[in-house]
Order: sequence, then structure tokens, then C-alpha cells
Amino acid sequence: MERDGTLPADGFAELIRGRTPESAGYLFAKASEARDRVFGKAVFMRGLLEFSNHCANDCLYCGIRRSNRSVERYRLSGPEILEACSAGHGLGFRTFVLQSGEDRFYGPGLVAGIVSEIKASFPDSAVTLSLGEHPTESYALWRRAGADRYLLRHETRDPAHYASLHPRGMDVEARVRCLYALKGLGYQVGCGFMVGTPGQTPELLARDLLFVKELGPHMVGIGPFIPHRDTPLASAPPGDVDETLYLLAILRLMGPKLLIPATTALGTLDGTGREKGVMAGANVIMPILTPAAVRGKYLLYDNKICTGDASSACRACVQRRMESVGHSVSLGRGDHPDLGAGPPAPGGPSPAPGFSASRPLPPAARGAPPDVPAPEAR
Ligand code: 5AD
Ligand code: FES
Repeated sequence: MERDGTLPADGFAELIRGRTPESAGYLFAKASEARDRVFGKAVFMRGLLEFSNHCANDCLYCGIRRSNRSVERYRLSGPEILEACSAGHGLGFRTFVLQSGEDRFYGPGLVAGIVSEIKASFPDSAVTLSLGEHPTESYALWRRAGADRYLLRHETRDPAHYASLHPRGMDVEARVRCLYALKGLGYQVGCGFMVGTPGQTPELLARDLLFVKELGPHMVGIGPFIPHRDTPLASAPPGDVDETLYLLAILRLMGPKLLIPATTALGTLDGTGREKGVMAGANVIMPILTPAAVRGKYLLYDNKICTGDASSACRACVQRRMESVGHSVSLGRGDHPDLGAGPPAPGGPSPAPGFSASRPLPPAARGAPPDVPAPEAR
């Protein structure tokens, strides 16, 4: 696997099934070495701004799903978003990750305006969007407005498993089309999945890993599933931290140049989960920049950490945590190593970065982005 960055599906499933403390320790060491060879000890820090918890979707695992009536909903205005970025810039952040539910209030033009204002105010910074599924034209507009990266976890590549976690009408193929469309538009793209969702098996996880290989993303975000009390999955058991770390290490060995976060969900299930994530091969950390007044309302799962902390406290806390395990934080933009920090090249498809080109990309990754149905059409 270290040589080719991949294994056959049954090889991955066997690797996952055969996890022992010894094999995990071995993989963590190998993964850390692979990461250090490309990135050294610096962990990229990004500011996560959760600007709206309204959501038109009803994913069964998610605390801000439409049918959860107990959520106190909020929306930040354009000026409030700018202000939070400005505070973040003052704290040293040079990437702003704008995340929300699928909130139609922010139409394509409004999002584009916000992105271009951030880019105009902070030309040294990258903007990452994490806004769910949208028509290709919206993605293209936002890219032209200056958005650099897009995070859209595929959650699980297996159609039946995906259907079991999502409301009728949502389809993993639509999500995959979005990911290829984003890639075709020249975004640095992140996919990812939850570990330990109900019904997940080593075979399904192997499929997720093979999908990562096929897509060739720049970033992969994984975290343990954590139940939320007001969702249909309230009584499902949480994902396993050790299994998540093991998968993180496998991803690092598959893609030494990948940007892989040590997620808040890892830190929620385990007090030192994010430190462990870095020791297993992660190289990104995303402290929360959401204003104090609303940060306690963006709860995708129960017991989320950092909801009572100021942005400056989170930033300092994360730095301390990284240093406690022999790493430093980098406040650069933290682009994928195969990309410069140059101006966006809309329409110019990015290569499949950091993966050995042992297999050709599917046509969608090479040619024009496929058509993505508008969310309204679902
Ligand atoms: N537990 C863990 N992760 C979750 N996410 C959503 N709900 C949960 C949950 N209950 C993750 C999904 C989504 C990302 C923003 O957060 O993977 O893509
Ligand atoms: Fe938010 Fe520690 S990272 S308080």
C-alpha cells in the first residue's frame, strides 16, 4: 500500500478487520513519517465559521436537520461574516472555512458577494466553502468570486448505506457528481465520511477508501459518528475513536500529500482525540471562529466541544495541544503541495493530486463537469 497508495477492496477490508493495537501503532508511525516527509511538523490551522444552522435537508444523523424543531436557528449577515473573518485574520488565520446547513436564504449571488468581499479584504487568505450540494453553475460562480476550496463529505459511497442515512430523494450519485463538478472547476476539493454510522462494515469502509482513490481529492475529512439526541439515530452507538484513527492513518499512507484534519468530532469523543489524530497522520486543525453568541447552536451531534469558548481561546488551545505532541501550528494558507497560492484558474481542472496515477480517472474528472441537478429538483 505504501508503494502504490492503494490495495484491492478485499485487502482494505481485511486491513480494517485485522486492526490490533500493534498494527495500529505500526500504521500510525508509518503515516506520521509519510506526513512529516511532505509537510514536516507544521499542522495547518483553519478558522471554521459556522454562519447558519438552517438546513433544508433532513439527514438522519445530523442535529440541525430540518425536522429537528428544538434547534434555535440563526443566520449571520454578510457584515457579521466579514467581521468574524476580520477577527480571525487578527488571530492569524489565513484560511476561512465557511460552513452552513443547506440554507437557501443565501442564494448564489449572496454567497458570491460574501466570498468576493472576504477575498478583497484579505487577499492573503484562502476561502473554503462547505455548503452542501448545489448546481454546478453556483459552484462556478463562487469559484469565479474567488473561493479556493470546497468541502463536501460523501458520507458513504455505498448507495444502500447512503440511502439508510438520508431522506428519500437524496442519492450518493448526486453527491459524487457534485464532487467531480467541483474538481472540474479547479477547486481544491475535500470528500470524507463518518466512521461508525449504523450499518457500516469493513467492506463499506473499503469502498469509501477506494472512492477516495478514484476521486483524487486534495482533502479528506473523517470523524466518528456521534449520535444527536433529537435525531432518529439518537440511540445508535457512537463510532470508535481507534477505528477512526486507523482509517486516518490508512488515508495518509494512500495520499502523503493530502490535507487531513484532526476533527472536532474526534476531540469530542476523546479529550485528546485531535492530538491522537495528528499522531496518526493528520495535518490540519480547524478551531472554531463562529461568534460566541451563536456557536452553541451549531450542534451536529451531542456534547460538541468548544461551544463555550471564544475564538481566541480556541486558537490558543489548539496551538497548545499541537505543541504538546511535538508539532507546531502553521498559519499559512496551507494549500495542497501540488498547487501554488496563485490566482484561481476557473475552469482549469486540477490534476488528481498526490496519488499515484495507477488508474485512469473517470471521464467526469477529465472533461467538462457533469450536470448537477438543483437541490430544489430533488
Ligand atoms: N456525528 C458526526 N459527524 C457528523 N456530521 C454530521 N452529523 C454528524 C454526527 N451526528 C458530519 C458529516 C458532515 C459534516 C459537516 O459533519 O460528515 O458532512
Ligand atoms: Fe476550542 Fe480547545 S480548541 S477550546
